[in-house]
Amino acid sequence: MSETDPHSMPDLEMRPMRIAAVGDLHCTKESAGALRSLFAQASEAADALLLCGDLTDYGLPEEARVLADELSVVSVPIVAVLGNHDYESGVPDAVRSALAEHAGVKVLDGEAVEVHGVGIAGAKGFCGGFGRGSLGAWGEPAIKTFVNEAIQEAMKLESALAKLRTPQRIALLHYSPIVGTVEGEPVEIFPFLGSSRLEDPLVRYPVTAIFHGHAHRGALEGKTVNGVPVYNVARPLLQRSQPDRPAFRVVEFPAV
Ligand SMILES: [Fe+2]
Ligand SMILES: [Fe+2]
Repeated sequence: MSETDPHSMPDLEMRPMRIAAVGDLHCTKESAGALRSLFAQASEAADALLLCGDLTDYGLPEEARVLADELSVVSVPIVAVLGNHDYESGVPDAVRSALAEHAGVKVLDGEAVEVHGVGIAGAKGFCGGFGRGSLGAWGEPAIKTFVNEAIQEAMKLESALAKLRTPQRIALLHYSPIVGTVEGEPVEIFPFLGSSRLEDPLVRYPVTAIFHGHAHRGALEGKTVNGVPVYNVARPLLQRSQPDRPAFRVVEFPAV
């Protein structure tokens, strides 16, 4: 696996599977025309496009329709997870179906898909903190409910990972499974950016790479405890880190 310049176009016969990934599009009703060029370039640069949540800004079906129109320029398979913003209006299913019906997006919520021989397991994930700072299910019912949400999301990820049978496997999340890719954010909000509970299934069912968003001011890359690369592809982070390149990340997966 290696990172490539999204502008390079290797020989079709020789080239590995190329994945383009970006999260945190935060599409609004006024975004028409603003994302089309980015998606066209991603479609040109890769064999599949992953969208790592916060697809819409307020979780409105109208925003999802705008995004679906913007995605009409993409000619490769699109696989996504929702983010916390996609839940804001309480109709995540409407957001999901707008993207599925109008742009053919496969939105994963504890499921797995195979694209060109690469398996992709996806779940939104949740927050709660990392390592020794993780919130425990103890005390008030509200705390237990909060922690249970993180446990449920980790179980969704685990059940998706368990379905993968391909040699190359990818995990797709919105929240971070490791602290490494949220570093750069204010330390006070680390517990709201992800959860180590998401890392546990990734150790039991190792993958080739992990993509997430949500931490707009985090770090581009980190590794799980078992050495799997983790890519934070939040669009604001990519825009700041690579202002001269389109705001998506391309990772190559050799044919095996
Ligand atoms: Fe976001
Ligand atoms: Fe988010």
